[in-house]
Amino acid sequence: MKKIGIFYGSNSGNTESIANRLQNLLGADNADVINIANAKTDDFIRYENLIFGTSTWGLGDLQDDWESFLPNLKKIDFAGKKVALFGVGDSMGYADTFVDGMGELYQAIQDSGYVVGFTPVTGYYFDASKAQVDDQFVGLALDEDNESDKTIERLTAWVENLKLQFTI
Ligand SMILES: Cc1cc2nc3c(=O)[nH]c(=O)nc-3n(C[C@H](O)[C@H](O)[C@H](O)COP(=O)(O)O)c2cc1C
Repeated sequence: MKKIGIFYGSNSGNTESIANRLQNLLGADNADVINIANAKTDDFIRYENLIFGTSTWGLGDLQDDWESFLPNLKKIDFAGKKVALFGVGDSMGYADTFVDGMGELYQAIQDSGYVVGFTPVTGYYFDASKAQVDDQFVGLALDEDNESDKTIERLTAWVENLKLQFTI
């Protein structure tokens, strides 16, 4: 598989920790982990396979560092690249805006990027999410506040799916 760039934004460490767990599951030789707070647009050029991870803050807001990077993200040429998204949120505390940040990222890249790794909403308890299209999330939704016991199973299944969809 072509090298994967895992770009994440995290306020209190949950999304960062998931990014590192993803790197372990994919194999450290196959994936780099980059904090979007330190990223430049050139950092995206070398990867054909990308994973973007964000948490959600406020009421449905994209994580702060991703928010700052958004104008740059819209300038990146995603031609020939595949992008998978994951969102970390709180489905009980914020049931109406669950993982909305992932939906914001999707909206920013959906016209220029080839997004893979959608997952069914089945098995999640929430009322509304900008990251939902029909009966799927636009990536992998994780809830470290209430359902951290489900994270490893969700991550493992998603990684197996990505291995089939990412460019070899
Ligand atoms: C003030 C505040 C606002 C939040 N707003 C949302 C929200 O709108 N939707 C959501 O799914 N999660 C929300 N969360 C939950 C965080 O996204 C969640 O705790 C996440 O794991 C934090 O990840 P991070 O440490 O990587 O930033 C909020 C948490 C806090 C403390």
